Amino acid sequence: MPPATAERAIVDVVLSQKGGVGKSTITVNLAAVIGENIRPNAEGEDAPVIAAGIDPQGSMEKWADAVAEDILPFDYLSTRGDNTLIPQLKSDPLVKRIVVDCPGFMDVDPEAERSRDPLGHGAAADALRAVLDVADRAIVPINPEWLSYDPTEYTIERVLRPRGIPYLVAINRWDPRDGEDDLVKVENWIDEHGYPRPPKPIRKYKIHTNAAEKGLVVTQYASSGTALRAREDFYKLAIAVDGLEARR
Ligand SMILES: Nc1ncnc2c1ncn2[C@@H]1O[C@H](COP(=O)(O)OP(=O)(O)OP(=O)(O)O)[C@@H](O)[C@H]1O
Ligand SMILES: [Mg+2]
Repeated sequence: MPPATAERAIVDVVLSQKGGVGKSTITVNLAAVIGENIRPNAEGEDAPVIAAGIDPQGSMEKWADAVAEDILPFDYLSTRGDNTLIPQLKSDPLVKRIVVDCPGFMDVDPEAERSRDPLGHGAAADALRAVLDVADRAIVPINPEWLSYDPTEYTIERVLRPRGIPYLVAINRWDPRDGEDDLVKVENWIDEHGYPRPPKPIRKYKIHTNAAEKGLVVTQYASSGTALRAREDFYKLAIAVDGLEARR
């Protein structure tokens, strides 16, 4: 055990019960903009910023393989079922920030009594529970479409609030070309529920979609107006996350 006074890394988890809302995209790009603004450690040492995947199926491994890791402003790791890794890294004095990409938890029991833990059983649920135990804050991505409303509410009410984990609901994949209607709708829904959210959404840009395949992150996009705006969105998210008080 580290001494009680030891600085521990802040663990931000990106999670939603819903698949495909942008958890992995947000994880790596948030880690990238944080990593760009932290003094690197000496070569060969652990990086100060770590993006971690806890999906036992290793959904991010393809991305990690495509990435030239030495040019990333963070380290990427996949826990591959080792649920002690993230708690260990949290106590590593060289590590300042950990951003965790959580799999959509599909094995929930929606009929479970409210007092019961709905995460279910199995390797994915165990990995999720282990990381929630050390999580300081959470980011719940939502898309501007009603299908992602219920899973967002469920994630917050059943998973985050019972654990006292502070969270933000981050609107992702809003397409400015679609106009403001869908954006206003989802913002109102979030506000009516009293959920905190960053002031600005993460916009939908094709550059993000192609980037994942190429193993690129937002800090490395070739300079263009779109790349600037894409980067801006993640800087704004990082600032909003920093405004959340960590559960420490
Ligand atoms: N802001 C964005 N603009 C454009 N495309 C995006 C954006 N965010 C995510 N995407 C794309 O949407 C798809 C789903 O995103 P992502 O894989 O990050 O979601 P996920 O929540 O991690 O999904 P899963 O639950 O399957 O792990 C991907 O193809 C990704 O490139
Ligand atoms: Mg994912």
